[in-house]
Amino acid sequence: MAGTAPLKRPEVQDDNRLEWDLSNEIVRVVEAAALAAGRWMGQGDNDKADEAATEAMREVLNSLSISGRVVIGEGERDEAPMLFIGEELGKGGPEIDIAVDPLEGTNLVARGLPNSIAVIAVSERGGLVHAPDTYMEKLVVGPAAAGKVDLNAPVKMNLGVIAQSLNRDIPDLTVIILDRPRHEELIEQVRAAGARIRLIGDGDVTAAIAAAVRGTAVHAVMGTGGAPEGVLAAAAMRCLGGEIQGRFRPRNASEAERCIQAGIDLEKVYMTEELAPGKQIVFAATGITEGDMFRGVRYFGSGSRTYSLVMAASSGVIRFVDSVQVANRKVPVSLERI
Ligand code: FBP
Repeated sequence: MAGTAPLKRPEVQDDNRLEWDLSNEIVRVVEAAALAAGRWMGQGDNDKADEAATEAMREVLNSLSISGRVVIGEGERDEAPMLFIGEELGKGGPEIDIAVDPLEGTNLVARGLPNSIAVIAVSERGGLVHAPDTYMEKLVVGPAAAGKVDLNAPVKMNLGVIAQSLNRDIPDLTVIILDRPRHEELIEQVRAAGARIRLIGDGDVTAAIAAAVRGTAVHAVMGTGGAPEGVLAAAAMRCLGGEIQGRFRPRNASEAERCIQAGIDLEKVYMTEELAPGKQIVFAATGITEGDMFRGVRYFGSGSRTYSLVMAASSGVIRFVDSVQVANRKVPVSLERI
């Protein structure tokens, strides 16, 4: 088009080199975890599914040329044998912080239900908040409503803002809420405001990603879920232009103490950039069971196929990765287009 300035293409620069260098490697980490956990789909064994994902993730991370440190993982050192907070990973290389949830939605895999994923975020050191394993009250919206909502405002007011930013009315919105007794009042408020609700059993990271992507029919996520998941969602929002606001909600005195030790202000509403302040952030997720955002893992004798999302905050590249892993070269792979 004459007179139109050409769009600037994302390119490698000194301030985003880490993202370009790590994106391809990081997607392999979540693919491996998803492939391992996917074998446990519907087997009713949460622990085995989680162990399989964690082991696979750790193995790939340890094979990478990074000096990685886990800031969000499977638990504190004394309660998790692998991917514990503080664990150092990799063969040596750039110093990065790592947040993982090898199996986000353990119950979903154990029961063969949709929307489980393997997920990771990495950044330069200090780029992801070390969130203690407690709860967080969250409000997640997509790019259109980012910067306009407020976790402290009444639910109806936020729904009005989201509706307006999407050029629609509140009854045209769908809000995802974790199906928990603690959300009884919130559900009442959303109903009273007139929005539709999708109650989910688990998996509020996938829900957050869906809220930031048009065409998923998800417009917001509200309610209290895991704090580590909140930081992972923040890393995803940094890449997608959406927004998460979160307030830490410890369940008991010892969790509150852990938060205070970690320097967390329990009154404060943390914004996306405070939960994931990194200049360079890579976020990657692979579907395990079929879902809103991702297809699930497929195994077909001579190989397998995975569907992932890998994105980088400062370079602005978002990739949908459809990978086929050929396991047996002697057996022909009959590839179908998707
Ligand atoms: P897992 O990764 O442990 O399977 O967590 C799933 C999940 O549903 C998260 O998506 C959510 O943030 C959290 O658990 C909610 O916690 P709870 O089940 O205790 O309400």
